[in-house]
Amino acid sequence: MLKCIQCGYELEADPWVISCPKCGGLLSSEIKRRPLAISWSLFRTRRLGVWRYRELLPRVREVVTLGEGGTPLVKIGERLWVKFEGANPTGSFKDRGMTVAISVAKGSGVKNVICASTGNTAASMSAYASRAGMRSFVVLPKGNVARGKLAQAALHGAIIIEIDGPFDLALDAVKEIAGPETGLYLLNSLNPWRIEGQKTLAYEIIDEIGVPDWVVLPVGNAGNISAIWKGFSEMKRFGLSKRLPRLAGIQAEGASPIAKAFKEGRDVPLFTDDPETVATAIRIGRPVNWAKAFRALKESSGVTEIVSDQEIIDAQRKLGRMGLGVEPASASSYAGYLRLLEDGVIEREDRVVLVATGHALKDPDSSPSVRPISALNPRDAIDKIRRILNEG
Ligand code: F0G
Repeated sequence: MLKCIQCGYELEADPWVISCPKCGGLLSSEIKRRPLAISWSLFRTRRLGVWRYRELLPRVREVVTLGEGGTPLVKIGERLWVKFEGANPTGSFKDRGMTVAISVAKGSGVKNVICASTGNTAASMSAYASRAGMRSFVVLPKGNVARGKLAQAALHGAIIIEIDGPFDLALDAVKEIAGPETGLYLLNSLNPWRIEGQKTLAYEIIDEIGVPDWVVLPVGNAGNISAIWKGFSEMKRFGLSKRLPRLAGIQAEGASPIAKAFKEGRDVPLFTDDPETVATAIRIGRPVNWAKAFRALKESSGVTEIVSDQEIIDAQRKLGRMGLGVEPASASSYAGYLRLLEDGVIEREDRVVLVATGHALKDPDSSPSVRPISALNPRDAIDKIRRILNEG
């Protein structure tokens, strides 16, 4: 069953209905009754990943999967973990949502799918669409999509359209053309089935280490923060966990419509038409899921934090030196965490999970420039290595 988060209108699940027919509000898929069979011991008989929790996902005729989810939870401190979503099949958390939404679409006979994207949604959607035998259209902000993501969309056969302007305008275009009349199925995070898949990130954290005190994550279009909150809330509601974490939503200075407004105690975002940040994945001025995000932040006694591009790059480098390669948007979790720790909002005793949403390979241009030491021949290479070793 789908329910409008604004006016409460309820309707039968229909893949083609993406927003409330009554008021245009955001829809959420609601599980009315607790599925009887569910327990951790049942889940654990299955492979770790999105479909481990299939009783809590929409029922689909055929699962379109690439083995998503089940990503490493890497311990980087006494009470600090990184959920490494870069380990998903296309290198970002989007795959969790796509496996579910594309499976739902396939069951309804969808042939063509479309999304606006800062890159990762496009990469993920085109991979899953190809796997399902569908054609994909992606609309991107020209000049602001990282190289690796574009390469993926091309590799998976997407029809790529670029616009002059930010992600938000690309999404306006996609929303206008998608629907049953054109047969184009919309796969942005407005799509409630995407959220259903993405909520499994929360399930996996509980499955592995229980409920942490904090979950820190980047916020762009605000689908993921809503999804993660839904995941934690459902587990508590169904008696599979006892408590809830607090959420910390991180945005970049030049693209912080939610973080800024929430910090100032406002009820609506401070939209901007010209977002700017090196973290192109979250270069978004008018996040469509803002109402769900505000709810998640309020219900979780959450906080928001704003980090500069420099802090993001510094955090990316620090994670790199711990063996974790993440793209800039993902490093904002760590940058935000360091700030919140310094300000005493998060305490050292707190158990914290940082969500690292996408892989470093997505955006090779954001990594330090490569400055190799030239050697004339193998002998010269050996000499140069010896010299460095001797220098200590
Ligand atoms: N991190 C990365 C790496 C992302 O690609 C995105 C969103 C986010 C964080 C923010 O997630 O939008 O659910 O708040 N990328 C979208 C895209 C917008 O088109 O790939 P969100």
